[in-house]
Amino acid sequence: MIATKAKRSEKTLTCKQRFLGAIENSPIDRPPVWLMRQAGRYLPAYQEVKKNFTFLEMCRRADAAAEVSIQPFDILGVDAIIVFNDILIPLEHMGQKVDFTEKGPVVAPAARNAEILAGIHRGRFDETPAVFDSIAEIRRRIGGDVPILGFAGCPFTLSAYMVEGVVSKSLRYIKELLYANPRLLEKTLDLLTETVIDYLRIQIKAGADAVQIFDTWAGELSRSDYRRFALPYQRRIIEAIQSEGTPVILYVKGSSHVIDEMKASGASVLSVDWRINLRDISNRLGEGTVLQGNLDPTVLYAPPETVRRMTQKILDDAGRRTGHIFNLGHGVLPETPVESVQALIETVKHYDYSSR
Ligand code: CP3
Repeated sequence: MIATKAKRSEKTLTCKQRFLGAIENSPIDRPPVWLMRQAGRYLPAYQEVKKNFTFLEMCRRADAAAEVSIQPFDILGVDAIIVFNDILIPLEHMGQKVDFTEKGPVVAPAARNAEILAGIHRGRFDETPAVFDSIAEIRRRIGGDVPILGFAGCPFTLSAYMVEGVVSKSLRYIKELLYANPRLLEKTLDLLTETVIDYLRIQIKAGADAVQIFDTWAGELSRSDYRRFALPYQRRIIEAIQSEGTPVILYVKGSSHVIDEMKASGASVLSVDWRINLRDISNRLGEGTVLQGNLDPTVLYAPPETVRRMTQKILDDAGRRTGHIFNLGHGVLPETPVESVQALIETVKHYDYSSR
């Protein structure tokens, strides 16, 4: 046992070996670390690039997208690169327009009635979408030893943006559709599922090593509604992608009440927010379940010593060397101090894993 551990730490793993090793739950030196929304406004280097382009232009230009995707790797030393893009981009290929304003994204026309929904079609990616070139460019610049993550929104979360236009806290319009015309919602979720699978396949073809699917808003559903309007579509995406050999990480915000359903999705990794204690879910779902998370992003506004202490607590709770990917419970917030993010990453790298 001791000999194996010593041997394990002697070996220097590449970021990709560490990342894929964690996903496979095989022996590695420490949990890999990356952060949702790691590329963004809180980084001065990002703002420097952003000066010249709108958000959509950055998504469409492989050089700019690759540059800001790689910044967190160079500046912070994360173990994985997520391509700069947005979950709402595929809606532009389905008959809607997406605008990123100061106040957040706006999707138009909001598909709040059956006539507008009838105009929504499966995503048409006739020309290679920009995300393909962005991933290919990241790979060209970074080489083969760093994992690249692709991503997409899940059907329920995308349908919320599609129908609400601007997502409201109560999810009034998407829930109205769900209760008034569940069949029509299911038809829309079918279209989104096919589109998301196509979009993920394009990213994998371009070089993504794993993909994360975001069902940010599915945690707002009751357990039975989650089983009908979120789980089956997640499962279809996960089956399609994993059967072709690429692992899928499933993220749901506020998922305590649907954690068993998340497990039932078959995802390689379950990404959870700070409301859940990692030790509790490990006990409940078993050590075989690979977890990602789950520091509250607002902790990063606290002084670095607090960030270190809270990061250590999550590593204590996870209690593992493998089968855990360190991340936040949701995306990095604007105005997060870069020193806090650095303190988090250093803590994950220098934590004492010798007793595991
Ligand atoms: O670094 C990364 O994580 C990769 C890029 C990424 C973005 N959006 C870039 C972005 C990823 C993975 C996303 C996912 C995304 N986008 C989600 C799922 C995760 C989550 O946060 O729940 C959702 C719901 C969206 C939709 C979206 N896009 C919202 C709600 C917003 C506004 C909120 C905000 O932070 O401004 C966006 C805009 C957006 N997407 C920005 C970034 C960096 C900010 C725009 C800017 O900096 O100009």
